Amino acid sequence: MKAIEKLHSKPAGWIMAAAAALLITVLAGCDVERRRSDAELGLNSQQAHGRKIYDNYCDRCHKPYSSKGKKGPGLKGVFQNKYLPQTGLPANDERVTDIIRNGRPDMPGYGQVLSTQDIQDLLAYLHTL
Ligand code: HEC
Repeated sequence: MKAIEKLHSKPAGWIMAAAAALLITVLAGCDVERRRSDAELGLNSQQAHGRKIYDNYCDRCHKPYSSKGKKGPGLKGVFQNKYLPQTGLPANDERVTDIIRNGRPDMPGYGQVLSTQDIQDLLAYLHTL
């Protein structure tokens, strides 16, 4: 009887522990990495279009929902302060448009790639960060 119990409980305990560990890993990972939908973020259609542009051109260097740096500074709350943290330029549409159009020493400019409308949509999205 004892031997059978041992046989049964040992693998079950193992599996439970492994499953719990896996679940915790997956849940913790999801919490950090899961991408929120446009609807969850409450984006209107202009902002959602701006987000697509952001994903295509900006995301590889700038995190949108963190102030932690990637290649460039994180853009969370980019318009929430008077000045941009890295460049010290005023945080307004005019200066940010210049940065997007002309680039910075380690950032390409997008004046040839993005239309005026694209940049307006992108700014609308950046204002939601
Ligand atoms: C190749 C990487 C790269 C890409 C792509 C890129 N940037 Fe940048 N960006 C940077 C770097 C590096 C800086 C810091 C430049 C400096 O210190 O002058 C910067 C600075 C900025 C700043 C000023 C931040 C501050 O705190 O002063 C803004 C705003 C910005 N980028 C927006 C964008 C947007 C919007 C896009 C997409 C259209 C984009 N960037 C694409 C690398 C990049």
